[in-house]
Amino acid sequence: MTRNIIFKNVGEDLTFKILPDSKAEKVKLLTDPYLLPDSIIKRVIETFESELELGLEKNPNTQSSLQMANTFVPKLLSGNEKGAFLALDLGGTNFRVILLTFQQDGKVDCFVQYYTVPEPLRLGEGELLFDFLAECMHDFLGKKGLLGKKLPLGFCFSFPMIQTGIDEGILVTWTKSFNCKNVVGKEVVQMLKHSFSKKEGVNVDVVAIVNDATGTMMMGSYIDKRTAIGMILGTGCNAAYFEKVERIEKWEGKHPGIDEVIIDIEWGAFGDNGVLDFMKTEIDKDVDEASLLVNSFTFEKLFAGKYIGDIVRRVLLLLIEKNVLSKSDLETWTFTAADVSNTLEESNLEKILENLKSKGFLKATLEDADIVHYVCTAISARGALLVSICLSSLLRRMDKEYATIAIDGSLFKHHPRYETYMRKFIATLAPNQKFELILAEDGSGKGAGLVAAVVTSLDTSLLHS
Ligand code: BGC
Repeated sequence: MTRNIIFKNVGEDLTFKILPDSKAEKVKLLTDPYLLPDSIIKRVIETFESELELGLEKNPNTQSSLQMANTFVPKLLSGNEKGAFLALDLGGTNFRVILLTFQQDGKVDCFVQYYTVPEPLRLGEGELLFDFLAECMHDFLGKKGLLGKKLPLGFCFSFPMIQTGIDEGILVTWTKSFNCKNVVGKEVVQMLKHSFSKKEGVNVDVVAIVNDATGTMMMGSYIDKRTAIGMILGTGCNAAYFEKVERIEKWEGKHPGIDEVIIDIEWGAFGDNGVLDFMKTEIDKDVDEASLLVNSFTFEKLFAGKYIGDIVRRVLLLLIEKNVLSKSDLETWTFTAADVSNTLEESNLEKILENLKSKGFLKATLEDADIVHYVCTAISARGALLVSICLSSLLRRMDKEYATIAIDGSLFKHHPRYETYMRKFIATLAPNQKFELILAEDGSGKGAGLVAAVVTSLDTSLLHS
């Protein structure tokens, strides 16, 4: 089998510094399933493209694993927005409240306050979670002297939802580290408004609910008007892009005058219907089995920040079992996305060894450090390739003269090689498309505030089904 794409783009990093050839061969053999051959890549591309089409159909024969949710956001920033807007950003363990103020010159001032969402709230009764959000909002407005003011708010809710309008979203399922009771199937803007109504002085107007990928796309357009895709590569992974309304067969209430609308793909769930089973390793299956929500979010679990470290750890365990890596009690310690990034940040094996020892891998040797570096590279390359496959398909589908891909998320920000790999993979997979990758920092939350600004300038009858 050929492996042109991965080796053409990452090959130079997939080498050992000191490992003897006999051992290197064993490591290569055991990590081989992660270095996807071109035949598998081709199948993933075809599968993604057919799932994407299926997800836009009105009465599909089979259910697509891509939700292809209509966000009802028909345009990006015009540059004429004015005033002050609030945003709430919920999706990870950190919850943010943001105040955006447009200046005369179109520049935006941002004030961001972080709050931690404790685990009992992430796993407890839903209403308590929303009450907590209202409490943080109250705290924030108090600090900014805005209690009682009626400001428009964009709610960034980074979970799969069905939207029937720009300010209505029904939670489909929790993902990542959330699993609150009595929220799935409910309209979450109502829940938020209900909790706000219990707090004196919280008099804000929730005008939009958006996913973080959509928020990032909006934030991207503030930085670069040619933004056509927003992507989150953090704890979870997802993307949003502009789709031509005529291609969205399932949108019954199409509106004249709207040519394109942002679609939230929800590609974290790509493969949940089994269409990616052909490429999953036993370890991928174990990672799913050990996750909070088993049998869901197949694609995300192959590489996103919440899972990448654990994939590496399990590959290392396999190498210990096969007597390739020194013995270590890897069962008792975790390997995180930050450990993957730290390992790849270092070209010096002594430093990698030091990190491993500080984590409790006391018997590690320099050869082990060499192996860990290789494994981190292989798993990261697979992840970067998988997202690049989907991004390249979107670029070819939109076929714009130039498309900027705005990205936010901890994995993208902190991983030292992901961006470089992605640039190379996309250029190989979509050779005729001109593109740029930009970091849209804090795109999710700030973007939600920007969506609120866009929405208040539009005729809201256009923004519902
Ligand atoms: C959620 C998406 C979100 C992504 C990135 C996924 O788990 O389903 O809605 O965009 O994480 O935060």
